[in-house]
Amino acid sequence: MRKCRWAVLISGRGSNLATFLDSQDEVQLALVISNKAEAYGLQRARRMGIPCEVIEGKANWQQVQATLKHHRIDAIFLCGFMKIIPEEFLEFWQGRIFNIHPSLLPAFTGLKSIERAVEAEADVGATVHGVIPEVDRGEIFLQKEAVNKSNLKILSIEKINFYVHVVEHELVRKWVRHWQSNMTFSS
Ligand code: GRF
Repeated sequence: MRKCRWAVLISGRGSNLATFLDSQDEVQLALVISNKAEAYGLQRARRMGIPCEVIEGKANWQQVQATLKHHRIDAIFLCGFMKIIPEEFLEFWQGRIFNIHPSLLPAFTGLKSIERAVEAEADVGATVHGVIPEVDRGEIFLQKEAVNKSNLKILSIEKINFYVHVVEHELVRKWVRHWQSNMTFSS
């Protein structure tokens, strides 16, 4: 039996991607796709010899599918990927495509979730969920608080961001291991 082959889609610094790079004994990162050529995550992945693709501008999703097929990808993790994905693509990957989001969903979907949670004096955290066409609305698989609302006033936004990322990395690591250990992958 072989390992699950993951593709991670990014747009930026790739700290969640790094959780895949840091544990290649258990997790097989087979492809990184970024919609920004300057994403720091690409540098991280290239340094480790991981195949990388850039899809800037209007993405050709058929081409993306072909690339995923070429690299024999089993599952996809969106780690800060800031591009709208077409419904057809999501349907094809249903049950095998996940996202990490910096809020306690269903609260604060969309952009600037941390800032909006702080503004609303709500608990701040992160969620791993399945991806469906509705943004940040798929099934919730893992969720954890990073900062309780009672502590918001004593922390800077930088510190809150930091704690959310720590929790995100923990959840991504946990979900990837959990999900792949419950599946079998034929050669
Ligand atoms: C993370 O906070 C993720 O939840 C959000 O985008 C950010 C990406 O961070 N969707 P990184 O590139 O993994 O450091």
